[in-house]
Amino acid sequence: MLVLITGNAGFIGTNFVKKYLKNTDTVVGYDKLTYAGNTENMSEYKNNKNFVFIKGSINNKKYLKEIFSEYDFDAVINFAAETHVDRSYDNLQEFINTNIMGTKILLDTAKESWKNKYEQKKFIHISTDEVYGSLDGEELFTENSALFPSNPYAMSKYYAEYYCKMYYEKYGLPVVVTRSSNNYGPFQNKEKLVPKVIYNCLNKIKIPLYGDGKNLRDWLYVEDNCKAIELVLKKGRPGEIYNISSNNERENIYVIKKIIDIINEVKHVNINDNIIEYVPDRFSHDRRYGICSDKIKNELKWKPETDFETGIENTVKWYLKNTDKNDKEGK
Ligand SMILES: NC(=O)c1ccc[n+]([C@@H]2O[C@H](COP(=O)([O-])OP(=O)(O)OC[C@H]3O[C@@H](n4cnc5c(N)ncnc54)[C@H](O)[C@@H]3O)[C@@H](O)[C@H]2O)c1
Repeated sequence: MLVLITGNAGFIGTNFVKKYLKNTDTVVGYDKLTYAGNTENMSEYKNNKNFVFIKGSINNKKYLKEIFSEYDFDAVINFAAETHVDRSYDNLQEFINTNIMGTKILLDTAKESWKNKYEQKKFIHISTDEVYGSLDGEELFTENSALFPSNPYAMSKYYAEYYCKMYYEKYGLPVVVTRSSNNYGPFQNKEKLVPKVIYNCLNKIKIPLYGDGKNLRDWLYVEDNCKAIELVLKKGRPGEIYNISSNNERENIYVIKKIIDIINEVKHVNINDNIIEYVPDRFSHDRRYGICSDKIKNELKWKPETDFETGIENTVKWYLKNTDKNDKEGK
């Protein structure tokens, strides 16, 4: 198989390509290398003979067309996106350009380049559980639940999904969408909670914690997500959406304290909770995300393998060993 992977130099893209190249399949990585794309991440796989990297934006229609005519891709996996909620308020235009328009341009390129060959192709779009909005009751969101995105990032992912649905329903493009919960693991940019907490602990910088710290996130070990995406690539049905989560709901305050405990234990230091600084809550901060993954479990036989306590320990140890990678701002 020849697969185009956009956003390969980011967090999930890196983890996915690293794992996926263990197959004999060939990957073309395509990334604009924004602040979130880290060429250092690619050092893990850039010399693999089955890997080619092309620097470019999913908004560049002309360049994408040339690449699609040079490579007869069997599949596309679209990880490329602006992903940080905090940034989405100040840089809304960037989120609209990449997440909505970029996705539309990529869909359009696949639609035109794959004409008359759709049955052999697959377009996987990586979306997020944030499109559902905050969960109020106890019943978890299923793929059929109504969507109420409540921040600009989530809104941009919602509209990108709209195009995915339209290109499947109107043109028959074989699009599959995944909506995963919060990922954690190696290679994440330090603006995100887990690497940020580790970085701040190591550099004795206060850890800002929004509100009362009791916001719940369902933490998914990135390797489990990558396995799910690989299954979707092989067996996911066009036109379908698959939730991916591992039912490891933890409050933010718990996650931070857990990381501090692991650092204290591994590095024989004594960082105490005073390093945590409560700051006013983020505007429109969703209290809880909670999704039901029965569909992918039943249909594609996926199951998460890493519980939060094991995954977070592996993750913290990885960052402690790779502080140089965690120090980088990107690129
Ligand atoms: N991280 C999570 O917890 C999570 C959860 C659910 C869904 N997702 C989705 O998974 C995907 C990957 O997330 P991530 O955490 O790896 O993000 P990330 O921010 O770490 O990486 C995004 C990558 O996309 C690249 N990129 C940005 N704009 C581009 C453009 N116009 N053209 C080509 N490349 C571009 C960046 O350079 C970067 O390498 C995103 O679509 C995100 O919405 C992430």
